[in-house]
Amino acid sequence: MPKLDIRLKTVASLINPGGDAPVTHGDIGSDHGGLLVSLLRDKRIARGIAVENKPQPYENSCQALTALNAEVRFGDGLAVIEPGELSSLSICGMGAESIVKILEAFPDRVPDHVILQPNRQHELVRQWGLRSGFHLHEEQIAWGHWPYAVISLQRAEIAGGDAGEANDPAYADIDHQAAILFGPLILKRWDPKFAARLREEAAYLRGLKQLSGDYKHRLQQIQKVLAASP
Ligand SMILES: C[S@@+](CC[C@H](N)C(=O)[O-])C[C@H]1O[C@@H](n2cnc3c(N)ncnc32)[C@H](O)[C@@H]1O
Repeated sequence: MPKLDIRLKTVASLINPGGDAPVTHGDIGSDHGGLLVSLLRDKRIARGIAVENKPQPYENSCQALTALNAEVRFGDGLAVIEPGELSSLSICGMGAESIVKILEAFPDRVPDHVILQPNRQHELVRQWGLRSGFHLHEEQIAWGHWPYAVISLQRAEIAGGDAGEANDPAYADIDHQAAILFGPLILKRWDPKFAARLREEAAYLRGLKQLSGDYKHRLQQIQKVLAASP
């Protein structure tokens, strides 16, 4: 069983961190099954449910999870999960559009704690959290092949707050557009490696002859954040 890379180690660290609750954790798009294997072996979760919608990754998961307290289901995202069946859920290694599509297909099957690792456009995941009554619990950058955002969200009532879109305290006292794009907790933490990466990106974008709308917006946001930085 290959060891988890830094990206999935970061995801694992945000799932039932105390390791004390009898958690049933679902992993959609489990592929190699490594995340659930690691969580079960470390006794961080009591039971795992892996979901795959392609034959070879489904087989990979079945093999990896043999003899562990886990079930592997073949199907499309939450379609093969019952309401109330999961304590927590992860979806990792996909584009944010696919992640949001999976979450929005069956909102009543999304558990109270969700850990998401989009490969691109992590702002779409934050926007989903805001409109769906989930508060940001934690977010970290996993410095792997790329800087991967790992985003942990809790249903607002569980996090001890109101579900309204404007009520997530993580977004208080911070520029909203920049917070959606880069992450409010990541911005507030202002890690030197993250700051250096933003400076590099700004220099790169400024050097391009022509910038499309999205990149123009991104450069404006980076410049605003750098100007306000400590
Ligand atoms: C790039 S892999 C990521 C594997 C693993 N989660 C990781 O982060 O290393 C994405 C996996 O998600 C599966 N997948 C994509 N959409 C899915 C869906 N709607 N339901 C179940 N599995 C899905 C794919 O078959 C693929 O194995």
